Formats: sequence, C-alpha cells, structure tokens
Amino acid sequence: MTNIEVKTRVKQYQIKIMINSLHHLGTLVTKVWCARQVAVVTDTNVGPYYAKLVTDELTAAGFKVRVMTVPAGEASKSWAQVQSLIDQLSAAHFSRSDGVLALGGGVVGDLAGFVASIYMRGIALIQVPTSLLAQVDSSVGGKTAIDLPTGKNLVGSFYQPDLVVIDPAILVTLPPRMLAEGYGEIVKCAALVGGDFWQSLHQITSVAAILPAAPDLIAASVAFKARVVMADEHEQGQRQLLNFGHTIGHAVELLADGQLMHGEAVAIGLVQVCRLFAAHGLAPQAVAAVMQHDKKVHGTALTWVYLSAVGQPHLYPIAVTDLATWMGDLWSVS
Ligand SMILES: NC(=O)c1ccc[n+]([C@@H]2O[C@H](COP(=O)([O-])OP(=O)(O)OC[C@H]3O[C@@H](n4cnc5c(N)ncnc54)[C@H](O)[C@@H]3O)[C@@H](O)[C@H]2O)c1
Repeated sequence: MTNIEVKTRVKQYQIKIMINSLHHLGTLVTKVWCARQVAVVTDTNVGPYYAKLVTDELTAAGFKVRVMTVPAGEASKSWAQVQSLIDQLSAAHFSRSDGVLALGGGVVGDLAGFVASIYMRGIALIQVPTSLLAQVDSSVGGKTAIDLPTGKNLVGSFYQPDLVVIDPAILVTLPPRMLAEGYGEIVKCAALVGGDFWQSLHQITSVAAILPAAPDLIAASVAFKARVVMADEHEQGQRQLLNFGHTIGHAVELLADGQLMHGEAVAIGLVQVCRLFAAHGLAPQAVAAVMQHDKKVHGTALTWVYLSAVGQPHLYPIAVTDLATWMGDLWSVS
C-alpha cells in the first residue's frame, strides 16, 4: 500500500493506493469515520460493477449505506443532479455527522464532492475514484464542480475529502479509450517531474501496457500532484503548472465539439505547446520531438506552461493581444 499524506490549511488526510483496496474499504473507512449513514454516489456504468462490493464492505463495518446513482456522463454535472442528490439526502434524514462517498470517475467525484460541500454547509466526504483520470487527477486537490450551459466547471468549491482510496485493479473494466485518456494526464505529470518517472514511461508502448504499470504510475502522479496542491491549495502560483497543455487543450476540446475527450484534447495541447515554445527558442526542439512520442487569463495575460527540458517547467505569461501572433507560429511549426 502506498500512503500519500496531504496537508492543507483546513485538513490533513491520506490517499491510499493499493491493488484490491476496495476489498478492504470498510476497514479503511472506519479509520477516519465513526458509524454513520453513508450516501454512496455512483453512476450507471460504475454502480453495476462495484456498488455491491462497496455497500457490503461498508455495511459489514457498521455503516448504514444508501446508494444514489446518477446517469453516466458529463451531463450529470448539473444543477438538476445536485438538486436530486440533495433531495435524496434530506429525505433520508442525513445530518451533518453523516457522509458522502463518491464512487466513480471525475464526473461523480466533482458532482458528489460539490454536493457534500454544500449540503448542511458541508458534510464529510470520501473519494473512491474509479477511472484512471480520476485516480491520478480529479480526486486529488479538492476541486469540485458542476457545469453551466455557458461553460464547464463554472460552479464549484474547494472541498477536501477525509480520505481517498485508489484501487488500480478496478481499471480492468474501464474502456481502453478512457484508459488512454487518463494516461495522458500521467504523461503530463511525468514531463513536469522528469527523471525516473519520465524514464518509466518508455516501457508503455501500448494501451495494454498501462494496466500492469498503473499502481506505480498512479503513485508517482498523485505524489507529484499532492506536492503541488499542498504548496498552492487555491491555484495562485505553482499549481498553475498543472495546466501544462490545457491552454491549447481547452481550445481544441471546444472546437472538437464533443468528438474529443478532455484528456485527448489536453494530450494534443501538450505536444502543440512544446512545438510552440520550441519555435520561439524557449525550449529545445528535442523536447517537442520527445513529447510527440509519448486558461487561464490573469489581468491581460494568459499564463502558459512550457518545459525548457523534461522535468523543468516554467510559467510564461503572454499578453492576450500577442496571442494571435504566437498561435500563428504554432500552426506553422510542423
Ligand atoms: N476536480 C478536478 O480537479 C478535476 C480534474 C480533472 C478532470 N475533472 C473532471 O473529471 C471529469 C472527467 O473524468 P472522467 O474521465 O473520469 O469521466 P467520467 O466520470 O465520465 O468517467 C468516464 C467514463 O468511464 C466510466 N467509468 C469510470 N470508472 C469506470 C470503471 N472502473 N469501470 C468501467 N467504467 C468506468 C464512467 O461511467 C464514464 O462513462 C470531467 O468532468 C472533468 O471536468 C476534474
């Protein structure tokens, strides 16, 4: 079992990474929660695989469990689902001393986390991420959100869980496209960290090779993200490094109009940002070449993240008025 300790201003908690940790969930949860009602929030894909195991584990450990299932997919990050979950919590007389356990990918984690943060001004939360993206990214850092018709993640909160339990074994049921999407996030972390972490990616030459390596790759990614989040909980400074690839990625995702998943768009963004900065002489061309193989506006500038070498990220503000020129250079680099 890999234990990663997260200390924020408001809370200290552990991220536990272990194959088959779901089979020990009851014991793990009793270490942080006394007996209480637990709402297990899941979706229509994940629930049929894992809700029974989670319910059995928690019930055997003395918790009173209610499973609340939302439709799978981004559309569930909505006010309608927030309202529905809050109505269910209230109808079941959930009090401030009860808890929410998010069992699912990033959608369930963001939605259930947001609901936990506002129901009765905040009740206890545990994250059990089930997609690779959620295991390496969205379950770490305490960001919760729902979408508005005008844009993604526009309503949300910073809300830290009491525990994160990551079981890489449950990735076996994740569709390969989603496994590859989550791997893009691992590549991003490895490029920012460099060293052994980056080197370890050379053994991943197919989607099938991700699964056996997943426990180590998840541990390295989560350790990195936790370090960055602890240093900058509310995204004022260094946490912006995690946006590497996202500036272009968000634009690509928008233009793809639902044809590309978030992680796929960000992977394209990673490669293109390396090309862009290479073209401006700020990163060696080699970095751009290696990356091929494998939004934030502050005032009047957009802060980009680039690598001067693998493992050496930098923040680089570009005036919004100069962006068109910079982007022009991007598309002229082949
Ligand atoms: N809070 C954050 O810091 C943060 C960071 C990155 C992304 N996000 C958010 O995360 C969401 C994307 O996350 P995602 O890619 O996990 O999407 P998702 O939650 O929609 O999961 C992807 C799909 O895989 C299914 N699934 C998940 N785990 C499974 C498993 N073990 N077996 C079978 N099917 C499984 C889901 O039902 C869904 O159909 C976006 O809404 C994004 O905004 C949040």
